[in-house]
Amino acid sequence: MSRRFLFVLGSARLDGNTELLAREAAAQLPGDVEQQWIRLAEHPLPDFVDLRHDSNHVRAPSDTETGLLLDATLAATDIVIASPLYWYSVSGLTKRYLDYWSGWLRTPGLDFKATLAGRTLWGVAAHADREPSVADPLVGTLNNSAAYMGMRFGGVLLGNGSAPGDVRKDTEALARAKTFFAQEAPLARFPHEVAAG
Ligand SMILES: Cc1cc2nc3c(=O)[nH]c(=O)nc-3n(C[C@H](O)[C@H](O)[C@H](O)COP(=O)(O)O)c2cc1C
Repeated sequence: MSRRFLFVLGSARLDGNTELLAREAAAQLPGDVEQQWIRLAEHPLPDFVDLRHDSNHVRAPSDTETGLLLDATLAATDIVIASPLYWYSVSGLTKRYLDYWSGWLRTPGLDFKATLAGRTLWGVAAHADREPSVADPLVGTLNNSAAYMGMRFGGVLLGNGSAPGDVRKDTEALARAKTFFAQEAPLARFPHEVAAG
């Protein structure tokens, strides 16, 4: 299967540091890799309603924002969660998109988990704090979500910046972006599985 990257942009502003860093990394992808970019702020998902245990729970039609994101997610071999660090985790827009995964897991006829298993989750995140380890909760959220889904996890490309464009000054992040998507992405494991050996 040829590779198809879906970039899910979760910033609450346009042209921010996270998107800039994600585009730096994406610029290194081979030309035959398809790329789809979706700004969640431009495709607002309605409030997530937990219908997982409702028997008449149906797939969102493709002409809705939810259907667009669902179709894009199912079609991607690689899903890149590009979220700024908000309160040490993913942004609200990003979290809402991930909450929808819980609905899709239970939507009859989708086979959401089987479809995503073996595919790869990546993260890109800008943060204002000088210390990258403050983003550990975001990294843990994405790692554990990938482990739960049986996905591969390529890690999170972090970059420092507060105002839009600041991340251009983080030369180490820009250097990491050059090889980020070329890294091995092993099957994700929960921390307790790693500890158990
Ligand atoms: C609601 C909100 C919460 C934030 N929380 C954090 C945080 O917990 N830690 C941090 O280092 N930066 C935090 N920041 C700063 C952003 O991560 C930083 O400005 C980043 O560059 C924004 O990325 P963007 O330009 O892609 O939107 C926060 C910003 C906002 C708006």
